[in-house]
Amino acid sequence: MKIIPKHIIETLNKDGIYICKGFLHKVTAEEIKKEAKLAILNEEKYDYSFGDAVKLYGKCPQYPLINGLFDCELFNAIADGWYDMPNKYESSIITHEYKSDNMASNSFLHADKNHALSVFLYLNDVDEDCGPFSYVPGSVGYGSRLRMSGYKNQLKQHKDLLYLKENVVDVIGPAGTLVIFSTDVIHMGGCVNNGERWAIRGHWRP
Ligand SMILES: [Fe+2]
Repeated sequence: MKIIPKHIIETLNKDGIYICKGFLHKVTAEEIKKEAKLAILNEEKYDYSFGDAVKLYGKCPQYPLINGLFDCELFNAIADGWYDMPNKYESSIITHEYKSDNMASNSFLHADKNHALSVFLYLNDVDEDCGPFSYVPGSVGYGSRLRMSGYKNQLKQHKDLLYLKENVVDVIGPAGTLVIFSTDVIHMGGCVNNGERWAIRGHWRP
């Protein structure tokens, strides 16, 4: 039976974001975190001011839970339905954020320069102190207009976005919490004050 996640696609079309707390059982999220830790140890890290990050492309049989976690019928159907055209799972990124004096570009409200549908999973319990994913409700249209106007990631200086900061909502949730969002939604994350955040996300682009 083909999965048609109509409700999720409708929510994404309306709000640009869909959140499900406890999408994965905590035990499953913990097991995925073990693989994520191995990947951070074994794979080449890329420069990330907030902590450690690795990108995985395509199949990764050495991480059996991560392999196919995103490139599966459910998420591919959501991405196809939302884009309303066939599109491709591109990569997944594992991040481990911890307290740091450095600021990364994603610590400022922004919409991504390169548009994607992003599926984001917390791998540990995340509260307001450990760098929750945060977003501005109702901002997807604004973010889309900014992206199409050709800005070059200078959003940290963008006064309208500083104003939007009053409206930011933190996504607090247990390990296994799922956030699917258009990267046009104005968002930020990863500023850890206390504790740490483990997360994994996948991207789809046409
Ligand atoms: Fe982003």
